[in-house]
Amino acid sequence: MAYRIVPVAEPVTNEDIDKYKALRLTSLKIDPSSFSSTYEREIAFTPEIWAQRLTSRFKRTFIASVKDEGSIGVGETWVGMISVLGPSELIPATLEPFERAGVGADWDMYFVAGMWVHPEHRERGLGTSLVKAGLEWVQTNVDPINDSEGKRDKMVLLLVGDDNASGRALYQKVGFTTLTSMPQAKGNSYMGLNVA
Ligand SMILES: CC(C)(COP(=O)(O)OP(=O)(O)OC[C@H]1O[C@@H](n2cnc3c(N)ncnc32)[C@H](O)[C@@H]1OP(=O)(O)O)[C@@H](O)C(=O)NCCC(=O)NCCS
Repeated sequence: MAYRIVPVAEPVTNEDIDKYKALRLTSLKIDPSSFSSTYEREIAFTPEIWAQRLTSRFKRTFIASVKDEGSIGVGETWVGMISVLGPSELIPATLEPFERAGVGADWDMYFVAGMWVHPEHRERGLGTSLVKAGLEWVQTNVDPINDSEGKRDKMVLLLVGDDNASGRALYQKVGFTTLTSMPQAKGNSYMGLNVA
């Protein structure tokens, strides 16, 4: 199968929003333990909230898509995704554990969210390609609030379940390490990767 990794590009279309919503809700239904949000919470989102998810300048979503069987040039099914939130997108609740642990004050923090590949398309390198696409965006992104013209480290962070063997293996493979300076809570560990 011919897969593509593509950013959700501006201007975001209604078709993009519908496909993103369908993929995200499917991920929450199939793998509820992999996410801190729930299907029940997000099924109630308004169209405006779904649109906002894709339109912030301070985060970027990448999609793994595959050309529909038998289609001629058009029609792609979305089968995986990753979102990377930049410093301006991070809410106090995300930052609070770092402040409490006294780490990260000298980092520009980026956070991985919503990482998911449909079970029928796993173990073909899509997860790795999605993470690499997110890291490339971090490398070049200039965030209006925290960016200090390259003087501070850009640290890409994520929270992964201790029993999520495939997720942990993937992140380790691309260079993430467990942040031993962070308290590990409720069966989850923070991992981080310093991006030059
Ligand atoms: C984690 C996930 C994104 C991996 O996606 P994927 O497309 O299968 O990943 P890849 O094919 O790129 O695999 C990358 C590495 O992950 C590891 N991996 C993938 N599947 C694995 C499995 N079933 N068991 C153990 N390790 C696995 C391997 O180290 C693999 O590298 P290798 O192919 O060189 O051995 C996917 O399993 C998934 O969506 N899981 C549910 C959601 C989730 O856990 N998200 C992460 C939350 S933090």
